[in-house]
Amino acid sequence: MLLMHLNEADEASWADKLRAALAPYPVVRRGESFDPQAVHYMVVWKPTPDAFDDLPSLKAILSLGAGVDALLKHPKLPDAPIVRFVDADLTQRMSDYVVAQVAMHHRGFARFAADQKARRWDQYYPPAASQSTVGIMGMGVLGQDAAEKLLAIGYTVRSWSRTPKEIAGVEGFAGAAAFDDFLSGTDILVNLLPLTPDTTGILNSATFSKLRQGKLRGGPVIINAARGGHQREADIVTALADGTLGAASLDVFEVEPLPQDSPLWAIPNCYITPHIAAIGDETYGVRYFSQIIRDHEAGQPLINVVDRQRGY
Ligand code: NDP
Ligand code: OXD
Repeated sequence: MLLMHLNEADEASWADKLRAALAPYPVVRRGESFDPQAVHYMVVWKPTPDAFDDLPSLKAILSLGAGVDALLKHPKLPDAPIVRFVDADLTQRMSDYVVAQVAMHHRGFARFAADQKARRWDQYYPPAASQSTVGIMGMGVLGQDAAEKLLAIGYTVRSWSRTPKEIAGVEGFAGAAAFDDFLSGTDILVNLLPLTPDTTGILNSATFSKLRQGKLRGGPVIINAARGGHQREADIVTALADGTLGAASLDVFEVEPLPQDSPLWAIPNCYITPHIAAIGDETYGVRYFSQIIRDHEAGQPLINVVDRQRGY
């Protein structure tokens, strides 16, 4: 049996579609009557503290999110394997976001919008895409796709990951020892890391001060589409004010929703989106999770299982 446990998502709609996709395999929702011993799978999003109570037969926890940092902090997380959401549509959405933000900063669109308001004709020619280096932190599913798409439109791309990566056209840096080298040639820093103890707060003053100055007019840029826990917002405010950073695009925040009194709202070169860079689409999600359950029930191994030791 599959138990749905979705908060801040349309649980009824997901349950109906999964029921149709998996029939005659039973799918139940919280509040319905079912035998807890018979629950083998759960699809979860933002589970409540008692979400996993009295479910002794769980074979897998299926996470609606690609990032599992919050789930891993659940106080009563059972031992069952965790499968995270990995999906071509979600990946494409993230790459859309990254490419749009990179192009906006590289081409100076924000500056031209301000010029237009002021009726100012000021011809500024940005460097060629190939002369601007985008450094991507995190070369997993999302980082690799974003790199591919940025390469295709001419950017110079470098990457930083925990273990070395060989990706055609991308200069790879791996591990803490290579971090400063990676930063020193980066004009636009894109964060697509998972949030773990090692990556918490990585977008901080020290990191910003090591980015390459002098290529992009205004200064280097950061784009954070991963988790708010990666960034030190007080450091971003300071860096945007003193020119260490030329601009920041932030989709995620230390506290979400971003509090009304956050200074970030009012900073003109800080571009805020409300955690919308990429969302798991219901149709693809239903296809993905139902296939995983069918395959596992047929004796196939689970895919995209989180390594709890690594934290992602
Ligand atoms: P993956 O697990 O596929 O990739 C993670 C990458 O980060 C890997 O390359 C990994 O290195 C690298 N990494 C992990 N720890 C370190 C470290 N300490 N130092 C250097 N590199 C490290 O994740 P995804 O690409 O699928 O997703 C990334 C994150 O994006 C998610 O965890 C989630 O938080 C966020 N996200 C945000 C969304 C939004 O709407 N804002 C939507 C979806 C996801 P290695 O390859 O060596 O293992
Ligand atoms: C995710 C997210 O991790 O939406 O999938 O942030």
